[in-house]
This record gives sequence, C-alpha cells and structure tokens, in this order.
Amino acid sequence: MHQFSRLLGAKSVSSKPWSGRFGGSTDRRVEHFTESISFDHRLFRHDVQGSRAHARMLAHVGLLTTDECQQIERALSEIQAEYEEGRFAFVLEREDVHMHIEAALVERLGDVGRKIHTARSRNDQVATDVKLWTRDALDRVDERLIGLQRAFVDAARRHEGVIIPGYTHLQRAQPVLAAHAFLAYVEKLERDRSRLADGRRRLNVLPLGAAALAGTSLPIDREYVARELGFESVAANSLDASSDRDFAIESVFALTMIAEHLSGWAEEWILWMTQEFGFLALPDSICTGSSIMPQKKNPDVLELIRGRTARVVGALTTLLVLVKGLPLAYNRDLQEDKQPLFDAFDTVESCLELAAVVVEGARLRTDQIAARLDQGFLDATTVMEYLIQRGTPQRTSHEVIGKLVGLCEKRGLAKLADLTDADFQEAHPALGREVRSILGVENAVKAFCSRGSTAPVEVETRLREWESRLGIGGAVAS
Ligand code: ARG
Repeated sequence: MHQFSRLLGAKSVSSKPWSGRFGGSTDRRVEHFTESISFDHRLFRHDVQGSRAHARMLAHVGLLTTDECQQIERALSEIQAEYEEGRFAFVLEREDVHMHIEAALVERLGDVGRKIHTARSRNDQVATDVKLWTRDALDRVDERLIGLQRAFVDAARRHEGVIIPGYTHLQRAQPVLAAHAFLAYVEKLERDRSRLADGRRRLNVLPLGAAALAGTSLPIDREYVARELGFESVAANSLDASSDRDFAIESVFALTMIAEHLSGWAEEWILWMTQEFGFLALPDSICTGSSIMPQKKNPDVLELIRGRTARVVGALTTLLVLVKGLPLAYNRDLQEDKQPLFDAFDTVESCLELAAVVVEGARLRTDQIAARLDQGFLDATTVMEYLIQRGTPQRTSHEVIGKLVGLCEKRGLAKLADLTDADFQEAHPALGREVRSILGVENAVKAFCSRGSTAPVEVETRLREWESRLGIGGAVAS
C-alpha cells in the first residue's frame, strides 16, 4: 500500500455513506480488502474535475443554487490544493478517492456538500474519472511517441549514406541504408499514434449521468457536462456506460503494441552492440557495468525495455480476463482495472522516454560495418534482377546466380565481384562486363527503385517528409 500505509486508519472518521441501512461498523479486514484509495488516489484531479462539472450542471438545471455551486467549486479548489501540497489526509475508512473528496466537501460545507452526489453514483463517477485519466495519459504517450520518432529521424539524418546489411531470419540478405532501418521504426510508431488517436475517439463519450445503472428521475443535462469535460457525446445507454471498460482495454492494447515495437527494436540493438556484430556504440552514460567482470559494458536500458514488455502484456491479459463474464452495469470487479491500467501507462511512458535517450546517444560503428559489408553476397538478389531485366525468367535467373554463389564458395572467394568475366559469361550469356556496374553493396543499393524501397532517393524523400511532419531542421509540419 506504499505511501498510504502510514495514513490509512490513522484517523477515526464518521460513518459510511451507506450507514442508514447498516447496523454496526465494517470489519477492519473487509476495509483493508475492499479499499482502493491506495491506488485510485491517482484519479484525484480527475475526480475534482468531474465533480466541478457535475456541480455546474446541477446549478444550471436548478438542483443547486448559484451560491451553493460557488461554495462547492471553491471548496473543491481548496481540496485539490491540499492534495497537490501533500496535506490531504487519506484514511482507510473512506475507501476510495470519490468518498474522500465527497467527505472533504461535507466537512467544509455541511449540507451543501451533501448535495454533490445528487443524480450521481460512484459507478458512473469512477467510469468518468478513469476515462478522464486515460485521455490525459493517451495524450502524454502520444507526445512521447513523437519524441522517439524525432530521435529516429535525427539518427537517420546523422547516418546519411551509411549502408548496413539487411537481415531476414537473422541471416545476411540485402544491403539497406541505415536511415531506411531507422525510418522503419518511425513508421511503426506512427501506426501506434494512430491507434491511440482511434481509441481516444471511442473513449471520448461521457458516462456520467448514467447514475447507478438506470439513469435518474432528476432533470439533469448530460450534454452540458460533456461540454464541460470535453467529451464528444454522451453515452446512449446507462447500463452500458457504467460497465464499459473497452477504452481501458483498447488503450492497453495500443500500449502493448508500442511495447512490442520497442522490444523488437531493443533486441535488434542489443545484438548490434555485441562484439559479434559490432555495429553500434552507446555512450557510457547510458550503459552499465558488471560487479565482477571489469571489462563489461552492458546495454541494460535496452534489456529492461525488452523485459518490461512482459508487464504490459500482463496488464492487457489482466484486463481482458477481468471483464470476461461480467454481467451488465457495475460490478466491484471493475475496481481491479486501475492498477494494470496505471502500470501499463507508467511502464510505456518511461520506456519511450528512455528509448529516445538511447537513440539520441547511438552511433553506428561505420568502419566496422563497412569492413564486413562484402560478406554474405548482399548483392546477389540485385544481380538476379539484372538478369530478369534482360529477359531471363526469374526462376532461371535465381538458379544461375545461386550457382555463381556456389562457385565462389567452392573457390573460397568472398564476393561475386571476385569472379572473372569468363565465369559470368559461362553462367549466362546476358552477364556481360556491364554486370560489374551493379556488383558490390554500393551499386546494389543504388539499383533499387521501387516505392518504399531502400533506394537512396526514395529514403531521402521519406526522410524529408518526416523532417517536415515533425518540424525538424526548420521544416514546417504540414
Ligand atoms: N472504488 C470503486 C471502483 O474503483 C468505485 C465504485 C464503487 N461503487 C460501488 N457501488 N461500490 O470501482
């Protein structure tokens, strides 16, 4: 129960809001078991925000006087200030953030405070608070995604013209520009952004006003509250409104995809940092050492980003299993939505922040990479395409070049360019001297021309587009 363990139960407080129906007090063990204040205090600001909008609406429809509404708004501001300054007292008996804030209002305002829960239930209140919290969190993550995109785009510009081996099955395949590889992650992150935006749109529907489950017989104005809180519309069905946690699950799924993207990237760069690859150098300031092996320099940040993906996947699983089989409207199980939701956001936000730090500090070891670019026959596919262009069927071309690779291996030659003109001629009459113009990784990269390929002009176009969209280097975002 972290920082609240000290405060919980420290103060004896007045009876529960439901005490009218109950005899005696709640068992202490039940209070400990059912409380959520130790984690839902994170909804504090959003609960105040929702209560303020609710009070204004109540005044608007005449369920509160203007004076009562002003008293409530003033008291809410004081309560929020107490919270921000760490002076607000949390107590176990008050169970959750909603009861804490309401009790604080009643303490200050007496009967006026006792009016705030008019036409409202904690069921629609908590759904609203969690939506408001999630909406803010989605916007924060979006900012972080943009930050990481910028870092990758900068890295692409910084490594302009650098060629690296591209891999499939982790086997050397074809040469690609390093910038192309960095921009691949920018695209993934852009899909992540669009997933967040898409979920945000569906989230932005107001639950408040659904009351306990069926709505209310009081003359409330839900559109008014929606406008106050920046929701696009009001939930059309009260039974659905209080049970809906789709937005939490969708958000955590979007976070899971981000974590998956980061994890794959981290794995790749961990490999690149090995002595075996030797592609990547990271500054000492973002690496860690070993307590026993003096020579070690480890990419722990990358490993932890990869590792923390497990937590996010776990949070998604928890949420999915949580709502499985819940009947309509509010069930207390739903209280369990918050910890996985908060944890998934905390984890992904910090991973994105640190990922940007890593990308900003990264330098490719271009000499090491260049020295070994001849390994792996990276130009073989381009030579095959050269033959295809000269009218040879693809399957035949594939076989011809495959045989030439085999010949190199038999003779202990490192690359196709080490073969003689006669070898090429013998393999296929269309393989004249001009074939040399596409041999080697430099030539092979230049030969690409398809949309979305690693062709240098293509990559430069994409890079400029991203620079302009992200407002980098004086370029203005469209
Ligand atoms: N703490 C509860 C939650 O987080 C608030 C709603 C409780 N509603 C109720 N009827 N007990 O879900």
